[in-house]
Amino acid sequence: MTSSIIPLYKQTDKVIIKAKDCYIYDSNNKQYIDFESGDWAANLGHSNERISQILKNQSELLIHDGLRFRNIQSEELSNKLLEKLSFKDGKSTFLNSGSEAVNLAITIAKNLTRRNKILKMDCSFLSAYGHGQISPDNSNLESISTDNIDSISQINFQEIAAFIFEPGNAWGLIKYPTNKFISSIASAIKQNGGLLIANEVTTGFGRTGKWFGFQHYDYKPDIVSVGKGLGNGYPISGVSITKEIADLFDGSPFRYAQSHQNDPLGCAVGLEVISIFDNDRLIEKSYKTGQYFNEHLLKLQANHKEKIYEIRARGLMISLVFHSCINTENIYLQLIDHGMLVGQKDNVLRFMPPLIIEEFHIDKLISTIDKIITGS
Ligand SMILES: Cc1ncc(COP(=O)(O)O)c(C=O)c1O
Repeated sequence: MTSSIIPLYKQTDKVIIKAKDCYIYDSNNKQYIDFESGDWAANLGHSNERISQILKNQSELLIHDGLRFRNIQSEELSNKLLEKLSFKDGKSTFLNSGSEAVNLAITIAKNLTRRNKILKMDCSFLSAYGHGQISPDNSNLESISTDNIDSISQINFQEIAAFIFEPGNAWGLIKYPTNKFISSIASAIKQNGGLLIANEVTTGFGRTGKWFGFQHYDYKPDIVSVGKGLGNGYPISGVSITKEIADLFDGSPFRYAQSHQNDPLGCAVGLEVISIFDNDRLIEKSYKTGQYFNEHLLKLQANHKEKIYEIRARGLMISLVFHSCINTENIYLQLIDHGMLVGQKDNVLRFMPPLIIEEFHIDKLISTIDKIITGS
């Protein structure tokens, strides 16, 4: 079948027709265990019943309302999110995509500090366009190489508006920088009047075994951007700020408005997502599942030391790194044939499954990798 979609990224010719929990199904009714949660968004699993129900109920009541009035859903979602972030008396606003949330976070930081430069780690992804886009044209984005403490002294912190920390580097194949490195950058930023942003678009909502990835660090962000997991597949993102930052808006002319901002439908979904996390104690459960996953990968590594270089794991954000002599793309393709979707880049396989993944799914993945690499 010829595709009528602009070929902006690589796609196979398989057609997906439905998804439920940890599984997706193609048009030949082949089932795949989705170790990528769609695009790292369906943390509660695909087509969660409560999310489908809230979409139905809220869409019959109020989908979109324009900017003139307040709505209950966005007010409540902001309060819930601020509670999870421990941002007492802070404020939030809600958008649609992670890229929008990152761009708004950076825009706020630039406006409040009246500086232009943004510091990021070399392997972080920030946004598909705008201030966070990784492109030679974006000269305001400065990169620091992960865990290179010496390189910190080369940064002119007086010109940095904000450091934006993605605590996991999903796109950069999952790397967890040390606390020492991150807190050294954070204190240099603070001493020089800059702001701290946490980009939690991917690491938020339980992905790393805590509500947010920055909570593994001595890192106190002023601004947090969220996305993906907040809507569990429905497009909603958000930016939250501390009370100290919110107070600065009183004297600032800075304003920002777009058509779909604080839309009640997306906010109702976000509220339901957080409620499901709380009811199902999903953070605690997924942390344990992550430990199980990690332990079994370590056993696999012990049996294949000459093939597996390392495992990087935190919660259910895990990468399995092969030695460069191993054809990792081939393993990835064979896993698809066996009905398992994982991420792959260079010599790394990436696993970011729905947080409801069960031990038997993990056993199946690891035993299949074991068989593939034993034969290779
Ligand atoms: C860490 C991070 N930030 C921002 C984004 C952009 O989010 P979106 O694709 O929803 O615009 C992504 C997307 O993968 C991401 O991984």
